[in-house]
Amino acid sequence: MKTEVLKASEESIKKAAEIISSGGVVGVPTETVYGLGANALDEDAVGRIFEAKGRPKDNPMIVHISCLEEAEPLVKKIPEKAKLLAEKFWPGPLTIIMEKTDKVPSVTSGNLDTVAIRMPSHEVMRKIIKESGCPIAAPSANLSGSPSPTNAKYVYDDMNGKIPLIIDGGECNVGLESTVITLAGEKPRLLRPGGVTPEELSEVLGEIEIDKAVKAKLEENQKASSPGMKYKHYAPKIKVVIIKADSEKYVEYISEQKENIAALCFEDEAEKISVPCVTYGKSYDSASQAKRLFDALRELDETGAETAFAHSPSEEGVGLAVYNRLLRSAGFEVIEL
Ligand code: TXA
Ligand code: MG
Repeated sequence: MKTEVLKASEESIKKAAEIISSGGVVGVPTETVYGLGANALDEDAVGRIFEAKGRPKDNPMIVHISCLEEAEPLVKKIPEKAKLLAEKFWPGPLTIIMEKTDKVPSVTSGNLDTVAIRMPSHEVMRKIIKESGCPIAAPSANLSGSPSPTNAKYVYDDMNGKIPLIIDGGECNVGLESTVITLAGEKPRLLRPGGVTPEELSEVLGEIEIDKAVKAKLEENQKASSPGMKYKHYAPKIKVVIIKADSEKYVEYISEQKENIAALCFEDEAEKISVPCVTYGKSYDSASQAKRLFDALRELDETGAETAFAHSPSEEGVGLAVYNRLLRSAGFEVIEL
C-alpha cells in the first residue's frame, strides 16, 4: 500500500473522512500526539488499527468525539463527575473512562465493559470526526512499543506501507498522550498522567486515587487497571537509564562513564556535557520537557551510542507525565545518586 502524506486542508480532511467512514485507517493529528484513526463502531475498521500497529488485542482504544452529545450513545450514563470534567477540560488532553453500551464493539474496548472517551481540541481532528460522522478510535500512531509520534514524519517512519493516508497538522502542542482517568470504579482514579495534572483534576473532583502503575512496575501477577500499562512502552532502540541526582552530580556521573554513551539532559546543562547529547526541554519547565521527550527519544537512536543516561525530571504537575513515560522508556531502570 502506498502511504500518502497530505497537509491539512478542507480537501485532505474530506479525503480522510471518506476513508474513515468507509472502514479505513488514517494517521491524524491531535494536540497530544498523532493517532491512527478508524470508525470506533466498525469492528473490521478497528481490527485494521491493531494490524497496522502490531498492538496486543486486549489493549483498548480511546474513542474520540467532537461534542458531548456524541458520547451519549456510547456510555450507560454520563456521570455528574464526567460532566464537571468535560466542562473544565474538554476539548483537551483528558480521557474519561465510563461504563459502555453494546454500541461499542468489544474489539474497541479490549473486551472490557468500559470505554475510554476523549474530546480532542486540535481543529483538524475535530473536523475529521465531524465529517466522518462517527466516533473515531485512535491509539497513538506509533508501532506498538515505540515512542508516540508528535509530527507527521514520525508517523510516516512507523506506518509507511501500512495505511493509505496521513494528515499533516503540524507539531503536537502537548507532546505526550492524554491524561486517563476512570470514573467506572468507586473513586475517580488516575490511570495515566498527561497534560491535565492530578492537581487540576483534584480541584474539580476533590480527592482522586493515583494508580500504582503510574510510578511503579506492575508485578507479574498484578492485574493492570489500564491494559496499556503492562506493555513495554515508549522505548527507543538505545538502552535508557534514568539518573536521579542534582545537575552537578548528574554531569559528574556522565563524565565518569566509559565510551559509547549518550546523555538525555536539559537544555540548560547541555554545555557542561562532553558526550553526544540530546536535550528535552528546560530543567524548570515540565511542559517544555513533555513537548520534547518523545522526539528526543527518537533522536537518541541517531547518536549510535549503546546507553543513554537520562537526567530525571521533576515529578510535579505535568512532570508526573514526563517521568511516567521516561520510566517506561527506561524499562524502570533508575540509579539514585
Ligand atoms: O492522547 C491520546 O490519548 C492519544 C491521541 C491519539 O488521542 N491516544 C492514545 O491512545 O494515547 P493509546 O491507545 O496509545 O493509549 C490509550 C491508553 C492505553 O494505555 C489503554 O490501555 C488505556 O488508554 N485504555 C483505553 N481504554 C481503556 C479502558 N476502558 N479501561 C482502562 N484503560 C483503557
Ligand atoms: Mg500509545
